[in-house]
Amino acid sequence: MKAEIVAMTAEAIDKEAIARGGEILKRGGLVAFPTETVYGLGGNALDPMASKKIYAAKGRPSDNPLIVHIAEMEALAPIVKSVPEKAKILAKKFWPGPLTMIFEKSDLVPLETTGGLESVAVRFPSDPIAAALILASSGYVAAPSANTSGRPSPTTAQHVEEDLGDAIDMIIDGGPVGIGLESTIVDFTEEVPVVLRPGYISLEMLQEVLGDVRMDKGLIKPDSNIRPKAPGMKYRHYAPKADLAIVEGPTEEVIKAINQFVKEDAANGLQSGIIATEETISQYPDGIVKCIGSRAAEETIAHNLYEVLREFDQCQVSKIYSEAFYTPKMGQAIMNRLLKAAGHKIINVGGSNQ
Ligand code: TXA
Ligand code: MG
Repeated sequence: MKAEIVAMTAEAIDKEAIARGGEILKRGGLVAFPTETVYGLGGNALDPMASKKIYAAKGRPSDNPLIVHIAEMEALAPIVKSVPEKAKILAKKFWPGPLTMIFEKSDLVPLETTGGLESVAVRFPSDPIAAALILASSGYVAAPSANTSGRPSPTTAQHVEEDLGDAIDMIIDGGPVGIGLESTIVDFTEEVPVVLRPGYISLEMLQEVLGDVRMDKGLIKPDSNIRPKAPGMKYRHYAPKADLAIVEGPTEEVIKAINQFVKEDAANGLQSGIIATEETISQYPDGIVKCIGSRAAEETIAHNLYEVLREFDQCQVSKIYSEAFYTPKMGQAIMNRLLKAAGHKIINVGGSNQ
């Protein structure tokens, strides 16, 4: 099966194509669509067979639950047991938007969708194309990121086609996404809300609204034996084919060290890649150097991360060195993804983080 690709913009939604996408979903088929974070691979969240199809298309382990996407507030109550007051506050502030919340599930949601868990993750995306598609379907769309399991999440429809073009019914091409990193996940099944995955909405933004919010311990100490609570966070992810290492420390030291590593690799007959920023790119004379964005506009780094990782898969490099990006707002989310891509390989070249 070759996916039908339909292009549209948020300003000019192709209503006829959306209606067809909605029908495909109702019949148990799969439709990939843009959201403000990354592209999602949609299936009817209330249909166990559709969820099974999603796992099969992605090659995803079946214990890794899916996020249920809704497009109106009234859709929340029927799929959960209850909504804590604090969750209502977050919904009011950040929905529709890049926030996923986890609740006890109702019987309406099949265990196939939740990877066997009694809880369900719910997101109300702000992308108008996503909203239109959800409303044209059963109103509940299970959608993991639309990549083959283990690859970087897709930020364009071309990425989706590369990974899943032969495995799904339709791809809605809405152009490049806005944010480029997956939604922030907050777990409300415990006394104090816990962040299971950092994203555009940072811990500080959540604390400002709610007061007490914690970071999942499994995320803070990735090398310890505390497992992340979100099953998906325990898998190696986003990994490029080449060996990726993050080099951290004062900027001048980082540049010096990366240039040294690239020279050593070349002496050993190995071609290396470098992930640099607009501020530093001119200081790397050797290797295949890619610009991820600007430190002065950290959202550009988040936006381009997965694209750059995918681009390196097209190059003949055996090693990649990346600067570290402990930027003020999205640094936690960017470094969480980059560390996973690097299998937590960090080279510290002295001093504090940049
Ligand atoms: O931005 C996003 O959230 C994108 C777009 C498409 O909406 N979706 C996305 O889905 O990133 P996915 O499947 O790639 O990541 C979902 C994450 C996984 O780490 C999964 O383990 C976790 O959410 N998750 C889902 N349901 C959960 C639950 N009930 N309890 C704990 N973790 C859950
Ligand atoms: Mg994913």
